[in-house]
Amino acid sequence: MVVDSKAIISYIQIQKEDLAVFRFKPKEGGEVPQFKAGQFLTLGAHVPAENKVIRRAYSIASNPENRNYIELYIRWVRKPLPGRLTTVLFSAKEGDEIIWLKPTGPFTIEEKMPNGEPDNRRIVCLGGGTGLAPFVSYAKHLHAIGSKREVVVFHGASYVDELGYREELTRLEEESLDKGKDKWNFKYRATISRPDEWFNRTWNGHKGRVESFLQSKDGEMSPLEKLVGEKITKENTVFFICGWQGTIDGCLDVLTPKGFVTERNKRADKSFEIKYESYG
Ligand SMILES: Cc1cc2nc3c(=O)[nH]c(=O)nc-3n(C[C@H](O)[C@H](O)[C@H](O)COP(=O)(O)OP(=O)(O)OC[C@H]3O[C@@H](n4cnc5c(N)ncnc54)[C@H](O)[C@@H]3O)c2cc1C
Ligand SMILES: NC(=O)c1ccc[n+]([C@@H]2O[C@H](COP(=O)([O-])OP(=O)(O)OC[C@H]3O[C@@H](n4cnc5c(N)ncnc54)[C@H](OP(=O)(O)O)[C@@H]3O)[C@@H](O)[C@H]2O)c1
Repeated sequence: MVVDSKAIISYIQIQKEDLAVFRFKPKEGGEVPQFKAGQFLTLGAHVPAENKVIRRAYSIASNPENRNYIELYIRWVRKPLPGRLTTVLFSAKEGDEIIWLKPTGPFTIEEKMPNGEPDNRRIVCLGGGTGLAPFVSYAKHLHAIGSKREVVVFHGASYVDELGYREELTRLEEESLDKGKDKWNFKYRATISRPDEWFNRTWNGHKGRVESFLQSKDGEMSPLEKLVGEKITKENTVFFICGWQGTIDGCLDVLTPKGFVTERNKRADKSFEIKYESYG
């Protein structure tokens, strides 16, 4: 049975007209519900035109150690018609009430290998657009628990003003450089997929969609391999991908021929190297 609880929108930060960070707190006060990094929260609102409650899933961008609020990174869907729930959210004010369901979902980091050994492999995250959200949660969580695993976060966006969390993720990388990889091992790279548009004229970083970090020409190392300084293998790396199905497919087109396997098609011994969450 669906159990609806009430939350308050405690903070809204508009990044651009149709992209924003929202924070939510329990209406009755106290701590937010427990969750794992990578899980999603279901929000609901009564939509008068349809005379029913519309519920939608949103990946949590805050980390589980933050018990004060849950943060989401949301795109206002406007085409071909205004999205039902996102239109409610982008018309809301701080202090407004909304329905939420308990966080859930399987897009979480594995701490152990199927044989019970600790999973110490490098974590490579590829997020398209708002698909960055679960990886912000991963990064903050792994930082908060003092993880020693190497973490690489790649973010792809169409426009430079859609690189949400850039400052925060850059700071996490700087901390890694300052403290040393043995203390905190974190890298963040962004890419712009429409580099020739006038609005993106100042961009001098990586160009192309996020999956291009995995692609290579003529047996050369991929941008990912150049960044980490070694060949990527099943033994040293695990991949997490979130975005449009085209983004997932673009990554799988590179990884599958190399023998990497998704959790959904795991081997008989239950091993896998890829988890993904698709926009559907
Ligand atoms: C696990 C998971 C995590 C997610 N995480 C995030 C996240 O972190 N951030 C995020 O922004 N989104 C996320 N989403 C997507 C989110 O759940 C919603 O699908 C999205 O916000 C759109 O909801 P909506 O009600 O506004 O749009 P909807 O009303 O569901 O509309 C969906 C599409 O249908 C079109 N449409 C609407 N009405 C009609 C109509 N009458 N006829 C024809 N077409 C119509 C809309 O234009 C739109 O293209 C996630 C989805 C999943 C499954
Ligand atoms: N977990 C989830 O299921 C989840 C999480 C977050 C968001 N969402 C939903 O997904 C929707 C879109 O997200 P967004 O607005 O954040 O994305 P976006 O800004 O439209 O796109 C982000 C990046 O993905 C690329 N892209 C777009 N379509 C693609 C395709 N078919 N194949 C490969 N790459 C593609 C874009 O490249 P171009 O510049 O070339 O278009 C851009 O680089 C949102 O409306 C949200 O509702 C779902």
